[in-house]
Amino acid sequence: MLAGKKILLIITGGIAAFKAIDLIRLIKKAGGEVQPILTASAEEFVTPLTAGTLAGNAALTDLFDLTRESEIGHIELVRDADLIVVAPCTANFMAKMANGLADDLASTAILARDKHVIVAPAMNVKMWSAAPTQRNLKLVVDDGMQIVGPVSGEMACGEFGPGRLAEPETVFAAIQDYFFTFSENLPLKGKRILVTSGATREPLDPVRYLSNASSGKQGTAIAASLRAAGAEIEFVTGAADVPPPNGVNVTQITTAQDMYDAVHETLPCDVAIFCAAVSDWRPKDAGSEKIKKKGDGKAPSVEMVLNPDILKSVAALEPGERPQLVIGFAAETENVVKHARAKYERKGCDWLLANDVSESSGTFGGDSNVIIFFDKQGHQEWTQMSKAEVGLKLTNRIASFLKHPD
Ligand SMILES: Cc1cc2nc3c(=O)[nH]c(=O)nc-3n(C[C@H](O)[C@H](O)[C@H](O)COP(=O)(O)O)c2cc1C
Repeated sequence: MLAGKKILLIITGGIAAFKAIDLIRLIKKAGGEVQPILTASAEEFVTPLTAGTLAGNAALTDLFDLTRESEIGHIELVRDADLIVVAPCTANFMAKMANGLADDLASTAILARDKHVIVAPAMNVKMWSAAPTQRNLKLVVDDGMQIVGPVSGEMACGEFGPGRLAEPETVFAAIQDYFFTFSENLPLKGKRILVTSGATREPLDPVRYLSNASSGKQGTAIAASLRAAGAEIEFVTGAADVPPPNGVNVTQITTAQDMYDAVHETLPCDVAIFCAAVSDWRPKDAGSEKIKKKGDGKAPSVEMVLNPDILKSVAALEPGERPQLVIGFAAETENVVKHARAKYERKGCDWLLANDVSESSGTFGGDSNVIIFFDKQGHQEWTQMSKAEVGLKLTNRIASFLKHPD
């Protein structure tokens, strides 16, 4: 699966460094080549001998290694790779990547990179949630790096929370997804895919509206991933905290009715993905003047009417007009499986991705998601992953469906 692919694996000095050994095994098993680089701190946790022996390539540690530098310089090392993976990535190394430090072989390789980078952070929960780490995380994401994990769980230090390294299998899956999605033989070339994203806004009066906290991050990540796989993307978006991805056709809308109209104007397409958080209702009469505070001290009552059901309307189209694959999202705050299954059955879509958007989940506005995936075979729980990974996983699933429809 990874035959001929060269992966530069940077191992930094965290307690989870031993898991990088399992990752090397997985990559090798899939036919990939691994060139390990260890930071000086990583050598405290795993030996270069272990990493190098398993990889079948001597692990590199020293920027000023004259023998190696004369054989393959640090710049060629990066040019030679197809992908760079940092696993585990310490808080310190994240800070170095974010700020362009290049004071050892690992950080110099990152700064000299011309390849995609997958980063799997691992650290104590307080270190992960510390403001500087979160600032650095944002910087590396803005620089185009892909973050895998961390996941929540018990830490080596006994504390509990996010900060654990994603399992080697999860990091490996991200590597596979990368090569699948970004290969020259783009699997979705020639396919037209509609993605809705963001939040609708329903006016109460000219200055107030009813909306929700959707950030648009998940829809944006899906559109970006599909685009990278060669699809032409029609991106119909409401309000969002993040800009639309590059290279997509954007239709900006405000209300659910606008979104309904834009979706039906955009059809036909091969696949339609409804990731936007659409208001089920709207105020019946959004007057043209601002609602005034009443002198009697009473709050105004607002009569609501139903908005059109966009997902259901597209799923119900006749063959020929209906996209081959209609995919919905369900945002639930309780009994996620039960409510999402009911929605799946009611809407008539082919797949449904349900996520927990309760306040404690951190899904709305956050960078990770836990998806429960429904299709006609039943449902599967995906492990917690970044929204970018959800995009890659969905992209791969769509590509294999379109190749071999059920
Ligand atoms: C026992 C031990 C465990 C550590 N585990 C982690 C860890 O999981 N994550 C982390 O960010 N730092 C961890 N550190 C701190 C890093 O080793 C330290 O910040 C170091 O400077 C990182 O260097 P590097 O980023 O160049 O590898 C640990 C330190 C010790 C002594």
